[in-house]
Amino acid sequence: MNILLLGSGGREHALAWKIAQSQHVRQLFIAPGNPGTAALGTNVPLNLSDFSAVASFVKQEAIDMVVCGPEQPLVDGLADFLANDTSTCNVAFIGPKREGAQLEGSKDFAKAFMRRHNIPTAAYQTFDGTQAAEAKAYLRTLTPPLVLKADGLCAGKGVLILPTYDEADAALDEMFAGKFGTASAKVVIEEYLQGIELSVFALVDGTGGYVILPEAKDYKRIGEGDTGLNTGGMGSVSPVPFADAAFMQSVEDQIVRPTVNGLVADNIPYKGFVFFGLMNCAGSPKVIEYNCRMGDPETETVMLRLQTDLVSLLKATADGTLSAMQVVSDPRAAACVMLVSGGYPESYAKCYPITGVSQAQEESVVFHAGTAVKDNTLVTAGGRVIAVSSYGSTLSEALQTSLHAADTITFKDAYHRRDIGRDVTC
Ligand code: AMP
Ligand code: GLY
Repeated sequence: MNILLLGSGGREHALAWKIAQSQHVRQLFIAPGNPGTAALGTNVPLNLSDFSAVASFVKQEAIDMVVCGPEQPLVDGLADFLANDTSTCNVAFIGPKREGAQLEGSKDFAKAFMRRHNIPTAAYQTFDGTQAAEAKAYLRTLTPPLVLKADGLCAGKGVLILPTYDEADAALDEMFAGKFGTASAKVVIEEYLQGIELSVFALVDGTGGYVILPEAKDYKRIGEGDTGLNTGGMGSVSPVPFADAAFMQSVEDQIVRPTVNGLVADNIPYKGFVFFGLMNCAGSPKVIEYNCRMGDPETETVMLRLQTDLVSLLKATADGTLSAMQVVSDPRAAACVMLVSGGYPESYAKCYPITGVSQAQEESVVFHAGTAVKDNTLVTAGGRVIAVSSYGSTLSEALQTSLHAADTITFKDAYHRRDIGRDVTC
């Protein structure tokens, strides 16, 4: 098969790494890709918001399957665009159409879906700018901390958790006044869930078939001990020790299967990844959010633990035959540590030379997240720069290896957390 993978981050490098191991691949293209994916296939400088350019490339290179890494093209309707063009409509597309992508693109849509299908989640109500008084009255029925969510996509910044009613009122007014542009024209207010988070991933084939991939836990805050500002993700571990067989059975019975069946019952065509952002509330899983793609940096550990051929799973997703597939997980643990630019997630400098990658690759799998090649030198090109993932017979061992490898990679002002996974291993 000729495969076109869309995206340019560590998640896409990890997907490319796994796809490239498949015997079903004739050619792998990554658009736009990064210096890491260039070693696994051919990078193509496509602008993912230019759907016509994507369609032309698909035709020109006789692409058999498109795999979409990030959410924005899905929410904007790339799958619909290719399905509506007679010359690309038969190409397998991994990722939902616009309607299914609303599971991530609209918090209100996702909450209404969960309510309709009895999927456990926080109690909520949605309000628009004409309902500020009702919204503030609803806040007072909840016990702080108070959770406000912009309805639309906000690059991970649209969730605010406030300690008092007054602060929540002020944040609500700002959101309705356009703090997140049109994304906060509607605001979901929901009950605060106490617990520990994890990420569960499924592939779903649009006919009720699904498989569950290895679960993972990501670390979002910049500082050790989960302190400081939120980031795009500072590391991840898989498996998640508290997600034992009984817990994962509840996740499948109460969340994954009802979601898959709900999509079929609502006539929402969906062939692709579903990311369940879950809270373990005293042993009971509840959905915090859905995403219509894989997680980053969870993919950087999930792909290490997925032993089944990914392209076979993706083909079954497109063909509607996932119920006949089995997922085999590597019994080893995997841990990912993200090296970031000094100053991130606030302002940071770019273009610093990076050394030590090949040495780190002797013990770990190195995924590029924000790198570039300039004058034949690998340089930093983003906030999150390199994800170092390792296997271990235990999580602690995998973490030790990743930390060791991370120390061999150097660039000016590099930073990484040293406590990834410590909360679930100690
Ligand atoms: P989301 O974008 O919906 O994943 O929310 C971002 C983060 O806010 C989540 O990863 C949680 O850490 C936190 N969060 C969201 N909703 C809730 C909730 N209802 N209770 C507690 N924490 C939440
Ligand atoms: N790691 C969380 C996300 O990808 O949204």
